[in-house]
This record gives sequence, C-alpha cells and structure tokens, in this order.
Amino acid sequence: MTEEVVITCVGDLVEDVIVYAPEGVRVGTDSPARVERHRGGSAANVAVAAALFGGTARYVGNVGHDLLGDHLLAQLSTAGVEIAVTRSGRSGSIVAVVDGNAERSFLTDRGSAGDLTSAPDGWLLHTAVVHVPTYSLLADPMRATTLEMLDGARGHNVGISLDASSTGAIADAGVGAARDLIERIAPDYLFCNHDEAELLRITQPDRLATVTIIKQGAEATVVYSDAGVDTYPVAPVDDVVDTTGAGDAFAAGFLVTKFQRAGSQAAAVAAAHHLAARTIIAHGATPRF
Ligand SMILES: Nc1ncnc2c1ncn2[C@@H]1O[C@H](COP(=O)(O)OP(=O)(O)OP(=O)(O)O)[C@@H](O)[C@H]1O
Ligand SMILES: [Mg+2]
Repeated sequence: MTEEVVITCVGDLVEDVIVYAPEGVRVGTDSPARVERHRGGSAANVAVAAALFGGTARYVGNVGHDLLGDHLLAQLSTAGVEIAVTRSGRSGSIVAVVDGNAERSFLTDRGSAGDLTSAPDGWLLHTAVVHVPTYSLLADPMRATTLEMLDGARGHNVGISLDASSTGAIADAGVGAARDLIERIAPDYLFCNHDEAELLRITQPDRLATVTIIKQGAEATVVYSDAGVDTYPVAPVDDVVDTTGAGDAFAAGFLVTKFQRAGSQAAAVAAAHHLAARTIIAHGATPRF
C-alpha cells in the first residue's frame, strides 16, 4: 500500500521471561531450568504481528528508560514497527514458569508500562484503527490517558478495536464496570476468548461493539454483528508449541485484512487464524513464517 494506513496499538511493551522448570520450583533450593527471553506485551505483540504480516503498524506506550527498554524498542524497529513512545522508569518483565505438566504460573511486573501520562507526539498520524488491550485500561494514569486518546481518535473518524485481554482483568475491574467501560468506548471491534465473552455476558444482541469476535482456541471462531452470527472453523494445527500471543496475532491478522486490505469479514477471520497458527508453532509471542 502506498497510502499510509496505520494500525496503532496502545499498551505495554515488556520482556517475557519463560522459565521451563520440568521439576517445578523447589522452594528454598535449586531447580534445573531453561530460561528464554522474548519481547512481549499485548499491544506490542499485535503491532509486531501486523508488521510481519505486511501491515503498517505503530506501537504507542510508555517504555522503561533503561537498557532493556532500548533493547525492546530495537526489536520492534527490526520487525518494522513504527514507534511513538514516552520513556520513563524501568522496563517490566513477565516471568512465566512452565512446569513438567506444561502448567504456567506468571509473575507479573509491568514496570513503568502503566505510566503513560500523555499521548506521545504523532501517535495518531495516518491511523486507520487504534487497537487497545483492556490491560491498558486497568489503572491510571494509563487508563485516563488511553481513554482521552480514544476520544481524540473518534473525533478523527478512526476505527477502534478493543481486546478483552483476560478474565482476571475483567474480574478485578468488576464485570459491571468492565461492561460500562466497553460501552463507553463503543468499539467497532471487540476481540474476546470464550471465557471472557461468557464473563462479560456477551450475546449477539448485547455484544458491546459493532462487531464482536469470539475466539475459542482450536474450536470455531464466532462473530456477532448486525448480520447475525457467523461461525468460522479453525484448521487443525499440528505441534502446538506455545500459545502465548495467539490472541494478539489473531487481532493483527484480522485488522490488517480489514483496514489495510479492505477484506471481507471471512477473509479477516481466515487471516486471523493463519497468523495465530504461525504464532503457536513457535516459542514466544512472535509469529514464525
Ligand atoms: N490448539 C489450537 N489449534 C489451532 N489453533 C489454535 C489453537 N489454540 C489457539 N489457536 C488459534 O489462536 C486463536 C486465539 O486463541 P485463543 O482462543 O486461545 O485466544 P486467546 O485466549 O485470546 O489467546 P491468548 O492466550 O493469546 O490471549 C484461535 O482463534 C485459533 O485461531
Ligand atoms: Mg487473549
């Protein structure tokens, strides 16, 4: 595309530290482990997946003013993502401990990712759609700043895409408050997984967005819209290695197809499934082609 049409993702850029500990963590002594470091953060994941899929993507957020922040931003640039950020504090790390049963336990330190106190310069330039994980709306100052940015985006006739992010995030906010927040934002697209949709009590008539997309892992994706209910089966994926970032890649494939390629809903879901499949066959949240 020669005309710049940008998918702008507002939220976290952090490090994912994945600790494979086959014997689990033996408290108070040593445990053997393999430790992998990957770039993470839901908003950054969507931007990177969109760029790798041939889209034009921008990452917007507050990034730690440290070497890790420099390193994470360099990885975004290498992936072809445009950057509009503020810098302060220290970068966050999310530690995922994976035990011998593939059970995951998370230790979450977002560092200064939530300290977005103002919209970074040029954040909205040429934007076709702003994508926001609900993670970005949990606490001030990021919540207030992001809501203000979304209001501004609406005034520029820009699309708004929201990801429900996690049942934990919704439960912490309170289901009623989360529903009110989504209704206030009135997104064009709302992405949620099966559990998030259930918790938010989403139905086709009460779908909280113009179009609501419900992901169900290996099961069919369901889309609620004015047109009714559409169901799209997911092609089986052999050797699933790590589902981290599957939902973010899904959103990226969908948004690139809708906003940059003017694709149909069916084409957008097909691209979403394709990009998610490329993500779950590799460690970390970045799709592999
Ligand atoms: N086992 C699987 N087999 C095939 N595709 C899968 C599988 N798991 C996930 N996917 C793909 O990834 C997409 C998103 O997965 P899922 O339903 O787990 O969303 P999510 O819970 O938002 O993901 P995340 O854990 O990244 O937040 C699915 O719609 C599907 O396309
Ligand atoms: Mg998700």
